[in-house]
Amino acid sequence: MPAKKQNTSSFISPPLGAEGLHSPLGAEGLHSPLGAGGHFISVNDVSDINSLVAKALAYKQNPLKDKSLGTNKRIGLLFLNPSLRTRLSTQVAAQNLGIEAIVFNVDKEGWALEFEEGAIMSGNTVEHVKDAAPILGNYFDILCIRTFPSLKHREDDYSEMVINQFLKYARVPVISLESATLHPLQSLTDLITIVEHSVQPVPNVSKPLYANIPNPKIVLTWAPHVKPLPQCVANSFSQWINAWGKAEFVITHPADYELAEQFTKGATITHNQDEALKDADFVYVKNWSTYNDYGKIYSNDPQWMLTKDKLKLTDNARVMHCLPVRRNVELSDEILDSPNSIVTQQAANRVWAAQAVIAELLPRP
Ligand code: CP
Repeated sequence: MPAKKQNTSSFISPPLGAEGLHSPLGAEGLHSPLGAGGHFISVNDVSDINSLVAKALAYKQNPLKDKSLGTNKRIGLLFLNPSLRTRLSTQVAAQNLGIEAIVFNVDKEGWALEFEEGAIMSGNTVEHVKDAAPILGNYFDILCIRTFPSLKHREDDYSEMVINQFLKYARVPVISLESATLHPLQSLTDLITIVEHSVQPVPNVSKPLYANIPNPKIVLTWAPHVKPLPQCVANSFSQWINAWGKAEFVITHPADYELAEQFTKGATITHNQDEALKDADFVYVKNWSTYNDYGKIYSNDPQWMLTKDKLKLTDNARVMHCLPVRRNVELSDEILDSPNSIVTQQAANRVWAAQAVIAELLPRP
């Protein structure tokens, strides 16, 4: 295990709250922290991560500062799968920007969509995405889509056909609300939460625990679960923390739970959870199913659930989870209900992540 980095440079300068984090570039439109692609599907669509985080934190300080930005604009939120946080936080974010948000539960209320090119549609699918997506692109200024993987065929899931077909045919900016392999708005939220806990005092504690951690140690740990879950959150978190490049990043999981190297490359990976947790500043808890023998549960070892005893190995770490969480399976009550847990604040930050991204992608007159 590499020694904790001693670099004294702060990862965003000056480290003094959201206004202090506000970069002179990017956050006020001198250049966009998003790349030229005009979509938000992964961290590869972000040209300046710190500016995007700063923009989100500025919205947290003043949610309605751009309340007229989206006047007469409309955003479509398409859900092919269930959601609580993503759905509601994106609606609130749009409302803060003066944008009308329309939610469409495609899986329950829409025609069954076909995504395969050249499909002979004699089965259950009723409408091809190449017909539906351009229509949606006419109705909306931005289109947001949530879809889950099948967890049956890895190549199909990792080809990201659903989101890619919308990118191809919608002709408007597309935001991923979680795709088959990634969850970028969640990961941006996670980074916002890490940054604000790293550079600001934690309220209601006598001694600030995280006044300024220049290179936080972040541990992503696998946790048990009763159902096979996607790898999206873990993939995406790994991709963002690696791209951010300001943390000592360790991933720990049982043997056979390796994630795709394209997302984890750069992280230290160990099967020894106790070793990984040592001196951690942040512990991100998440279950995922197997990647190699795709979509399976190999182990449900309860020893992998984070407990107070395990937390003693850390540097009084903040504990994160994207939610929803299965209590006392994936994460214990004693952790979730302790002051170390920041999962509620993390989920609340979903609004600011969505607001920053929508504001950047909103077509300007
Ligand atoms: N974390 C997350 O995406 O939550 P929902 O599934 O409730 O949207």
